[in-house]
Amino acid sequence: MHFTVNPSNVHDAAVAVPGDKSISHRALMLGSVANGISDISGFLAGEDCLATLTAMKAMGIRIDQTGPIDIVVHGRGLRGLGRPENALDLGNSGTAMRLMAGLLSGQDFDSQLVGDESLSSRPMGRVITPLSAMGADIGSEGGQPPLTVRGSRALTALDYEMPVASAQVKSAVLLAGMYADGVTSVIEPAVTRDHTERMLGAMGVEVRTSGHRISMQGGQALKSCSIRVPGDLSSAAFVILAALLSDNAEIVIESVGVNPTRTGVIDILQAMGADISLENPRLLSQEPVADLRVRSSAMQGGVVDPGLVSRAIDEFPVLFVAAAAAHGTTRFSGIGELRVKESDRIAAMSAGLRSLGIEVDEFDDGAVVHGGQFSGGDVESFGDHRIAMSLAVAAGSASGPVVVRDTAAVETSFPGFTALMASLGLNIETNKA
Ligand code: S3P
Repeated sequence: MHFTVNPSNVHDAAVAVPGDKSISHRALMLGSVANGISDISGFLAGEDCLATLTAMKAMGIRIDQTGPIDIVVHGRGLRGLGRPENALDLGNSGTAMRLMAGLLSGQDFDSQLVGDESLSSRPMGRVITPLSAMGADIGSEGGQPPLTVRGSRALTALDYEMPVASAQVKSAVLLAGMYADGVTSVIEPAVTRDHTERMLGAMGVEVRTSGHRISMQGGQALKSCSIRVPGDLSSAAFVILAALLSDNAEIVIESVGVNPTRTGVIDILQAMGADISLENPRLLSQEPVADLRVRSSAMQGGVVDPGLVSRAIDEFPVLFVAAAAAHGTTRFSGIGELRVKESDRIAAMSAGLRSLGIEVDEFDDGAVVHGGQFSGGDVESFGDHRIAMSLAVAAGSASGPVVVRDTAAVETSFPGFTALMASLGLNIETNKA
């Protein structure tokens, strides 16, 4: 599958983007091991979260779909999951696999976790190491999927200083910690998204955060609750970028999650001169949300603060495009983690931007992007949803037509991306071949 994008501007509009991926995964997993029924509205019905949903059903959890983005999870308590008959296929989703490894470490049955080609080459040692230190027994192919989780291990609490800033690792350890004897603590080198802690709190679990240390006593029961999932800021970022790059556009994106552990992209874009304001701030379930008003802006390059990286980890493809459209050069550093995402995102974005006539100097843990004018061209997304969508938006302000290849993975996180962008005025077509 590929996109063909012709030069075009987006126009004034008010839109909503699909639900938050990180929160939707957690709602399914935590709802399944809570006592009672959890209503989840605004659920992201994208392939990644549907893989988690199918996995929870395979472990005996009843999940009813009550609307296109509304589901009801019939939780069976901490000890209520059953042994799945087959390997759990988590598709493209690193979040699903790493969190599930933590959850399954505490069960009394064996399980196997598999994924697609991209997921099968992603590092799992980062969760296997702390989970093994808790007493879990996890086999892998040299630190990569498939994972075999052997059950019926008595887990002990862990005090774990994470070597990488990763919400997936933190969450995997906390999920295993629910089954461990004693107080499990995770110390993060930099703040990462805290959706697990917030949702556990909403379900009645006492989780303490003190500076960079997060602690939780094992064995606490989870109470079911209603979860309203906000729009995903990581998906909103493509709409934000389209508005910024167009002439005279003003777009309001309604009800977007603005959890401060996620808003690095807004901070970085604002520092570059982007006109983005947060309106009507409020809480939706336990998460901060706002309506984002974005106006077309001339942006200026600069040095991106490496201290903001963990709060913007998924938005660097978008930020590379913003840097390419900005005046001057932009230096990104401390983003080595991008090399182990759904693709090597530093290499993928450098190659994509170069194909569109932009000069990029690539380093091990960063890049310098030289602002310029996008030309038409033919670019690869390496099967990575965020690369595909970032390059598609860049293509709208190119001087000629752009073909973006290998775009099927957009369905993992942003179902309806092309229809939404087309409704805003982006001249984009999906071609099946
Ligand atoms: C996620 C954490 C981040 C992020 C991913 C979602 C999560 O990964 O990139 O898209 O939901 O916990 P890392 O923990 O590997 O940084």
